[in-house]
Amino acid sequence: MEIDINRLDLEFQAKIDSGKTIEPKDWMPEKYRKTHIRQISQHAHSEIVGMLPEGNWITRAPSMRRKVTLLAKVQDEGGHGLYLYSACETLGISRDELFEQLHSGKAKYSSIFNYPAVTWADMGAVGWLVDGAAIMNQVMLTRTSFGPYARAMVRICKEESFHQRQGFEIMLSLCNGTAVQKHMAQESLNRWWWPSLMMFGPRDEESTHTEQAIKWKIKLKTNDELRQQFVDQTVPQIELLGLELPDPAIKWNEERGHYDFGAIDWDEFWRVVGGNGPCNRERLSARKEAWEKGAWVREAALAYAEKQESLREAV
Ligand code: 3HC
Repeated sequence: MEIDINRLDLEFQAKIDSGKTIEPKDWMPEKYRKTHIRQISQHAHSEIVGMLPEGNWITRAPSMRRKVTLLAKVQDEGGHGLYLYSACETLGISRDELFEQLHSGKAKYSSIFNYPAVTWADMGAVGWLVDGAAIMNQVMLTRTSFGPYARAMVRICKEESFHQRQGFEIMLSLCNGTAVQKHMAQESLNRWWWPSLMMFGPRDEESTHTEQAIKWKIKLKTNDELRQQFVDQTVPQIELLGLELPDPAIKWNEERGHYDFGAIDWDEFWRVVGGNGPCNRERLSARKEAWEKGAWVREAALAYAEKQESLREAV
């Protein structure tokens, strides 16, 4: 019996338009499945690569309280990766394939994690700006059309808001501290501001996937809309910290009802996305090393599971 793909496509789009959630067992266009594997896997890769710059600071945190908080955050990120890899596997791809795509460079992860975290203030700026930007995007994704992705986002957003607050609190402590500490916070803001704006992706007119993503309610806002929302929310926070704005072009535009801001260096963005950022090689080799060193754990866990299975079957 010939399957009428056109009819199925039309019925699928009607389901999306009616606000229904798509579940893994539902019929879906192959392109819908593939773009979710692409986006969810890159989101998951971002979570686990994102553990690296912060993990480096756990042993160097300035107090036990800061150490415990950072440890909890980094552990959360690993859990976020787990939820997202699991959501991705519902689309028919294995964990091993996902990691092979990361290690071979076929799959991307967020450009932001290819920048070095060089001072303790970076732990503040990363929590405040990077997790803040991630939340902006992820709150939108709690209403994305693919069920497992949307549900994973609900738990992740709750934990991200703790991440953002602890980052802002680090910045506030530094800004209320000595002149040297405040300078460290300012220098960190200046370094992380532009890469944080780049997290939202290329300009809408250069975005490969946005048009279809909006049609399929994968995205409910465009890259530029979320970026603008982030700037509008963050500028008052910078002023509350008593720090200088990292972009002299930032200015409230009454007519637009938004902050105007300066031009993003898109050459830098594509250079980092293309693998030539400050830390791309270091991050990828750290991930490959972790994968190789973790092989024995995976083998032991799989052997145990197989043993348990054979004992169950023997009963
Ligand atoms: N870093 C790396 N690659 C990026 C990028 C970025 N910041 N922004 C866009 N790209 C890539 C896209 O992946 C795409 O390449 P591909 O076709 O090879 O996948 C290309 O640039 C064109 O960009 P588009 O805007 O057309 O791509 P999308 O429609 O996928 O939009 C996105 C990009 C907004 C990042 C979207 O993929 C998305 O919302 N992803 C889910 C959220 C996510 O991944 N966030 C990453 C941060 S998670 C995090 O920070 C962890 C937190 O705990 C701190």
